[in-house]
Amino acid sequence: MERMLVTGGAGFIGSNFVRRACGLYEITVVDSLTYAGNRANLDGLDVKFVEGDISEQLLIDDLTAHNDIIVHFAAESHNDNSLENPAVFLHTNIGGTFTLLEAARKHGKRFHHISTDEVFGDLPLGGDDKFTEETAYNPSSPYSATKAGSDHLVRAWIRSFGLNATISNCSNNFGPYQHIEKFIPRQVTNLIDGRPAKLYGDGLQVRDWIHVDDHNDAVLTILERGRAGETYNIGADNDHITNKQVVEMLCELMGGTYEHVTDRPGHDQRYAMDATKLRRELGWAPKKDFREGLAETVEWYRANEWWWRPGKDDVEKQYAQRGQ
Ligand SMILES: NC(=O)c1ccc[n+]([C@@H]2O[C@H](COP(=O)([O-])OP(=O)(O)OC[C@H]3O[C@@H](n4cnc5c(N)ncnc54)[C@H](O)[C@@H]3O)[C@@H](O)[C@H]2O)c1
Repeated sequence: MERMLVTGGAGFIGSNFVRRACGLYEITVVDSLTYAGNRANLDGLDVKFVEGDISEQLLIDDLTAHNDIIVHFAAESHNDNSLENPAVFLHTNIGGTFTLLEAARKHGKRFHHISTDEVFGDLPLGGDDKFTEETAYNPSSPYSATKAGSDHLVRAWIRSFGLNATISNCSNNFGPYQHIEKFIPRQVTNLIDGRPAKLYGDGLQVRDWIHVDDHNDAVLTILERGRAGETYNIGADNDHITNKQVVEMLCELMGGTYEHVTDRPGHDQRYAMDATKLRRELGWAPKKDFREGLAETVEWYRANEWWWRPGKDDVEKQYAQRGQ
């Protein structure tokens, strides 16, 4: 079995990935357990866990030498936090990626970089155009700018050093183990608590939602059959659902109401991913219907209050300070 180093494997998407990839690969997770990482996300899984920062050169060099493949999820990932404290986004998303690339280059290892549709900026509301792999980068926030920077580093290491690497850019994920600061889990946990859900501004923004298992199946597909040096967009064609409709669906599924709150500064309007290349070349397709995935996610948060309850008050306090 090939040995795989998963960075950020104690976070939302990384831990769901590890759950899916266990048994297919021999997995080591490296994660510094920031506020977004939780060791309990990996409970019961047969993985080796190393607590550490991806920008620690000696640690990363050693872990890379002992693995065959590196799958790089670790990042500072919350847009709102990037407006308050951008420095840590540069440290992890740029500095950490650089450290990993250098180690993969030195040891000649396969590298897969997880990125986001947010590197492309946003699209106007109401249109039907989508981001392709050729769309020019136009990031809006310190989060998306540092993710864009990390993608450029990976491309440069492919071109300049012949690194055996691939990149995937995915749209907004939802599913179990997502931090309650994020849009869907925040609304779900508010509604569980009998509080109103909160809608940024007019709520007309569109996110091309994808279930985390569909994202991770796409990553596994790219690892198995992706062409070295290529970038693949991942999306589930949900680019017609507004934030307001998501909140309304949740209120309908769970009972409850919502209220409008102050919009996020520079809030991107619409994201839409064209995943034709991944579908045609590698035969991947998303399996989860949005509403069905949402209902399952609600059930997961209902059943796992132990997991999210301890952080809930702090998250709401932070949002309250921003009038949200
Ligand atoms: N959440 C989404 O909707 C989405 C969509 C597309 C792409 N992505 C990308 O997927 C990846 C994972 O996102 P997520 O939502 O699971 O994020 P997350 O914030 O839930 O998890 C990030 C993980 O990385 C760890 N980490 C942070 N800094 C680290 C460091 N310096 N060293 C080691 N570990 C560190 C954290 O402890 C955490 O476990 C990110 O690269 C993100 O840009 C996310």
